[in-house]
Amino acid sequence: MTEAELYTVYKGVYVPSHLHPPHSLRYYEEFAFRPDDIIVATYPKSGTTWMQEIVPLVVSGGDPASVETLPNWDRVPWLEEQRACILNLEQRPSPRMFSTHFHYNMMPASFFEVKPKVIYVMRNPKDVFTSSYHYYDIASFLVKPGPQSEFLDKFLNGKAMFGSWFDHVKGWLSADNKERIMYISYEEMITDLKDSVARIAQFLEKPLDAEVIEKIADRCVFKNMKKNNMSNYSAVPREFMDQTKSEFLRKGIVGDWKNLLTEAEAEHFDAVYKDKMKDVKYKFAWDF
Ligand code: A3P
Repeated sequence: MTEAELYTVYKGVYVPSHLHPPHSLRYYEEFAFRPDDIIVATYPKSGTTWMQEIVPLVVSGGDPASVETLPNWDRVPWLEEQRACILNLEQRPSPRMFSTHFHYNMMPASFFEVKPKVIYVMRNPKDVFTSSYHYYDIASFLVKPGPQSEFLDKFLNGKAMFGSWFDHVKGWLSADNKERIMYISYEEMITDLKDSVARIAQFLEKPLDAEVIEKIADRCVFKNMKKNNMSNYSAVPREFMDQTKSEFLRKGIVGDWKNLLTEAEAEHFDAVYKDKMKDVKYKFAWDF
C-alpha cells in the first residue's frame, strides 16, 4: 500500500492511519492529565517497550504482576492510539502511566497546564534507523522500507512515522518544563541498567531498596524481558506484525547499525546529523 493509503498527516508528521483514526487523535487533544501522571515519550524504536516494562515495575515496588497482567500497550498505553479511547483511562488510579510518540509541540493543551512527569528516552539515530528498517518490514500498517538507500533518505528527511528523529529529539530537549522531564538514553540503560532503574525510581519519587532495584533490572534485561508474553508482542496476529521475519524484541544491542549501513551511508548519516544537531548542547551517550 502507498504512503497516502497508510499514513495520515497530523500536525505535520505521518501517523499510521490504522492506529490513529481521527476520533483517537481528537480524544488525545481533549485528554485531561493529572499532575501525577507519568508519560514515556519516545521517537519510535528508541526503547519504548523497555520503559513500558521498567516504569510499572518501579511504580509497583517490583511487583511482577504489574507487567504480567496486561500487555504493554494496555499497561502503559499510547494516548494517540485508538485503544486509548476504550481503556477507561479516566477511571484508572494514580499514578497513571502513558506512552506517546508525539513531538513536544504536538502535546495537547492539558499537558502544558498540568505538567505531568515525562521520561524521554533517546537512542543513537543510526540504531533507531536500523531497528526501524527491520520493523517497517514486518508491520502491515507501515509503508514497506523498500531499498535501504531510499529508506535512509526518507528517515533523514522525516518521511517516516512520527516524522523527523532530529525534530523529535530537539523539540523535547528544548521543552520548557525541564524539571518535570527525565532524559535518558537507550545506551545508558544498556551500559548500566541497575543505575538507570535507580535514577528512574528517584525521578518518580519511589524509594526502592537496592535489592528491589536489582530484581527489576534483572527482569528487564533483554533476554529475560523477551520471555514475557505480555511484552514481546507475541499476542499480535501475524498479518499485523510478522515476527517470523524479524522479532519485535529483535537484538537489543548498541551499534547494530554497523551491520547494516554501508560506509558511504554512515558518512552521509554523520554529515546530516552534524548539520541538523549543530546547535544542540546536550551531551548524548553516543559519538558522531
Ligand atoms: P532492536 O530492533 O534494535 O532490537 P520500541 O519499543 O521503542 O519500538 O523499541 C524497540 C527496540 O528496543 C528494539 O530494538 C528492541 O529489541 C529494543 N528493546 C526492547 N526491550 C529491550 C530490552 N529489555 N533491552 C534492550 N533492548 C530492548
